[in-house]
Amino acid sequence: MKLNTAKICALLLISVMLMSCRGQKSEKPPIHPQLNMDFQERFNAQQENRFFADGRSMRMPVEGTVARGQLRHDTALYEGVDETGEYTNEIPFDITESFLYRGQDMYQVYCQMCHGGTGNGQGIIMTGGYGYVPAPTFHREASYDMPDGEIYSAIAYGIRNMPGYASQIKVEDRWAIVAYVRALQRSQNVPESEMEQYDVDLAQLLQEDEARRAREAELAEQRAAARGEEEISAERGEQLVVRNACNACHSDDGTRLVGPTFKDLYGAERNFTDGTSAIADEEYLIESIVEPGAKIVEGYDNVMAPYDYLSDGELQSIVEYIKTLSDN
Ligand code: HEC
Ligand code: HEC
Repeated sequence: MKLNTAKICALLLISVMLMSCRGQKSEKPPIHPQLNMDFQERFNAQQENRFFADGRSMRMPVEGTVARGQLRHDTALYEGVDETGEYTNEIPFDITESFLYRGQDMYQVYCQMCHGGTGNGQGIIMTGGYGYVPAPTFHREASYDMPDGEIYSAIAYGIRNMPGYASQIKVEDRWAIVAYVRALQRSQNVPESEMEQYDVDLAQLLQEDEARRAREAELAEQRAAARGEEEISAERGEQLVVRNACNACHSDDGTRLVGPTFKDLYGAERNFTDGTSAIADEEYLIESIVEPGAKIVEGYDNVMAPYDYLSDGELQSIVEYIKTLSDN
């Protein structure tokens, strides 16, 4: 091919044009001939604005303003309490099958790991010895008597050592969980006479239950035998008090927490809600740990879960530790 000047010029021009299409980065701002409203004066959140006497650029809403969808005047629905501040005893939704299943789903996501699949307080993180404050069982008098509104409130705002779940669980779902907790309570508390209505072999169920109890007792014995001679010491007791999170509710320095302090407890006289009293000796301390509902200390609620899984050596060690906190 014969090249003439015009062709050479055309080739050069094309290659220069192609080079400029390679999309290199540039530090310079793009040319912005028409500004529209892309750049304008405005304030950032929380920025100072001297125009207003209080110096804020963000203005306070007029007193009594309620954002759309935030009007929560129905305290029975949103807080589980009536106008007088008492817990309500009614679930403000229709208890349908799908509502209960929703409650079950939510329970399994948010509650089961602590309160257990059947609500017996033996959730997976409670049984692993990780030092969580134990979750009480829902199958006891105190929980049966708890009004629906109080369970709702426990979910929304927490209760004593348990945190609230308001940020994660919506109002309707909280009530669905309350309904499901009630269903769980009923499921574990069906009288034999009522069982007969259902298509179940009652005799077989009772037999299975007995076999399970026997097996558990056998395992407990094996565990006890495997432990053999256990160390009993105040140091071990102190560790156990931390590991079992007793110190979430009991202080060692006289401070009142959810429960009475351990300071000066040993040997002191204890008054109970039923009007009786006793001296806090070893036997009393151990009973208070394995069966806290037996005697309820005056001025406190019956909220301590029974620690009946502690071995004799562990209980004795805790007692030794409590003794060191007392001059009696
Ligand atoms: C991280 C573990 C944990 C989770 C998750 C949890 N709880 Fe609890 N719950 C506890 C503990 C611990 C207590 C006892 C607190 C105390 O007495 O200080 C408790 C207490 C309660 C009580 C009071 C029971 C009584 O008899 O006093 C209710 C009701 C309750 N929980 C419901 C729920 C529900 C419903 C959920 C799910 C939305 C839930 N909890 C999730 C640990 C948990
Ligand atoms: C959720 C809070 C809580 C936890 C956790 C807890 N307790 Fe308690 N405990 C209480 C409350 C409340 C009382 C007083 C009401 C009663 O007598 O049941 C109490 C009572 C006692 C008493 C009788 C105290 C007295 O003044 O007469 C002893 C002893 C005791 N607890 C030991 C323990 C030990 C040991 C642990 C851990 C293995 C433990 N508690 C875990 C709340 C708790």
